[in-house]
Amino acid sequence: MCGIIGVVSKNNQITETVISSLKRLEYRGYDSSGIAIEENGNILVVKDKGSVDHVLGGIDTTKTSGHIGIGHTRWATHGIPSKINAHPHTDCTGRIAVAHNGIIENFLELRKHLEEKGHRLVSQTDTEVIPHLIEELNNEGMTVEHAFKEALRRCKGSYGVVMIAQDSLHEMICARRESPIVIGVGKNETYCASDITAFLPYTNKVIFLRDGEMAILRPDNVLIERIEDSTVVPQRISTITWNPQMAQKSGFPHFMLKEIHEQPYALRNTLRISNNLIEPFARRINDAGKVILTAAGTSNHASIIGKYMFTHIAQLYCQSVISSEFADIGLNTISDKDVVVAVSQSGETADTLDATKRAKEKGAGILSITNVVGSSITRVSDNVICTQAGPEIGVAATKTFIVQVATLSLLSLELAKLRGTLDYSEIQSMKRSLLDTPRQIESVVKTQEATAIRIAEKYYSKPSFLFLGRGISTATAMEGALKLKEISYTHAEGYPAGESKHGPISLVEPGFPVVFIAPPDETYERLIGNIMEMKAREASIISVCGQADEKIEKLSDDFIEIPGNIPAEFSPIPYVVPLQLFAYYTAVKRGYDPDKPRNLAKSVTVK
Ligand code: G6P
Repeated sequence: MCGIIGVVSKNNQITETVISSLKRLEYRGYDSSGIAIEENGNILVVKDKGSVDHVLGGIDTTKTSGHIGIGHTRWATHGIPSKINAHPHTDCTGRIAVAHNGIIENFLELRKHLEEKGHRLVSQTDTEVIPHLIEELNNEGMTVEHAFKEALRRCKGSYGVVMIAQDSLHEMICARRESPIVIGVGKNETYCASDITAFLPYTNKVIFLRDGEMAILRPDNVLIERIEDSTVVPQRISTITWNPQMAQKSGFPHFMLKEIHEQPYALRNTLRISNNLIEPFARRINDAGKVILTAAGTSNHASIIGKYMFTHIAQLYCQSVISSEFADIGLNTISDKDVVVAVSQSGETADTLDATKRAKEKGAGILSITNVVGSSITRVSDNVICTQAGPEIGVAATKTFIVQVATLSLLSLELAKLRGTLDYSEIQSMKRSLLDTPRQIESVVKTQEATAIRIAEKYYSKPSFLFLGRGISTATAMEGALKLKEISYTHAEGYPAGESKHGPISLVEPGFPVVFIAPPDETYERLIGNIMEMKAREASIISVCGQADEKIEKLSDDFIEIPGNIPAEFSPIPYVVPLQLFAYYTAVKRGYDPDKPRNLAKSVTVK
C-alpha cells in the first residue's frame, strides 16, 4: 500500500539506489511512481502514472549527481492514478518534497486553511497538504525540521512519511504513525523505507521506527525523537538475517513461482521454531476464556485452518473472524480473560492491527504470528511467533501461507499435549508427518507441476470456477479460489462442498469447471457424493486427490495426485501447492503478471 524509500549518502550518485530500491517496493502498489532527488543543489522531481520502469526507466542514472533522494510507488487512495497525483509532492516553491504512505484524515480542513493562506495545491491527494503545511510553518519562522514535526502534530490519520528540503540537503527526515518505516544503517549511507527488502542489498542493520517517532537521517548518523514532545529516543539497531538473494528472482520468471518453489525451505525453517516460543504461546491459548483468531486475505484462510486444527486436534473451541469484521463481530464479547491470535505475514495490515489494538484496550491477551520481525503487530502483542519464510515479494501470498499453517499445526500439537487430547505416541507420529511435509511439497512440485501447467492450458479461458472441499479442505478450496481470482482475474468461488447445493450449483452447466479438494479423510465419501452431483450436471471435474486414488480419478476429467500420506489435519500444506501452481500458470497463460495483480497490494495499511 504505497512504498517509500529515502537515501542519504556521502556518495553523489544515489539515483540508481533510489530507483532500484523503489522497484523492490512495487509489490506495495504500482499505479504511479516518482522520485525527488538532489541535482546541483536543487530538488528535481520526476513522476508519472505507471510502474517504476515505465516512469523512471529512461533516466540515465550515471549522469545524475545528487547524494540525497526519495522515491514513492503508489496504490491510489485519494485521487486517480495520474502524473499530478503521483508522489513525491512539493510545496509552492518546489523546495520541499514529501513521499507518504497512509491517509491524512483531516486533509480537507488543512487544505482549506492552506488555500486561505495563499497556497496553491494542485493534486487531489491528501498527501499534498504536508509539504505545504511545512512550507507555511517554515515561512512563519520554524526550521524545516521543527516545521516537519509541527506539521505532523496537526495531521490526523496515518503516515509513513519522508521529506527532503532544499535548505537542508545534508539530511532527510522521516516519521511514522500506523504505517511502517524502517531505517537502514549502512556505511556512509542511511536509508528509510516502508520495508526492509527495499534496502536489503545495501545493509542488514535496521532500526524499526515506532508509532509517534521521527528520525533525522544523515549519511553517518541517525537521531530519533518523539514527535509529541521531542524527547530523544535511544537507538535500537537490529541485525536481520535475511540476505539480498532472498529478495531476487534467482532465475525464476516471477517471484511468485520462486516463492512456490521455496516452500520446502521456508517450511523446514519454520518447523524448527523452538518449543520455547511455541509452548508459552499455546499455554496462553489454553488458559484463555475465549480464543479468537483474526486475519485478512490469505492469512484468514490460514486462521480458518487453525480453528479447525485447534478444534479437531486439541478439542479447543475457538472462532476465526476476518479482521475487518472484528470490531462488529468479535469485540463486544471480549474481556481480559480472552486471547486474540492475529495472523499476518506483514504484521502491518491495518484491519488486523486495529483488531488487536481494540482487543488490547479491552484487556485481552494478544498473540501474533507474523513473518516480519519488528513489524507493528509485534509491538502490540504479548507473545509473538515469527514464521521463517524470508521475504515474500509476490503480491499473492504462497510460502507465507504454508508457514502460517505449519505454525498453527505446531501450536495445535502443543495444545493437544497440554489438554491431553492425544497421547504421547500419537503426538510424536503427527509430528513426524508434519516434519515430512517439506519433502512432500518437493515431491508435489517435482511430479505435478507439469500436470498443473497442462490443466491451466486446458481451462485458462473459462470465465468462472468453483473450488469445493469439506472440513479442513474448505479453507484450502477458498485459498485456491482466491489465488486464481487475484492473479488471473478469473471469477472463482471457494465453498464448502456440502453447501454447494444451496446456491453455487445453479452456476453449473456442461463444461463448467469445478475443482475438488479430495484428500482421503473422513469427509471422503460425502465429497464423492458432491462430485457425483456436479458430474450429473456435466461439470468438468478437476480433483486434487491422494496418490493412486482410482475412485476419484475415474470420476475426474483431470486430477493432480498428492504423493505420500498426511494426517487430514495437515492436508492443506501439500494440497494447496497444486492450486498455487494452477493459478500461477493460468495467470501467465492469460497474459498477466502474477507478481503485480491489478488493484491489489501486498501490504494493505488502510482500513
Ligand atoms: C493483502 C494481500 C494478501 C494478504 C492480505 C493480508 O490483501 O494482497 O495477499 O493475504 O493482504 O496480509 P497480511 O500481511 O496481514 O497477511
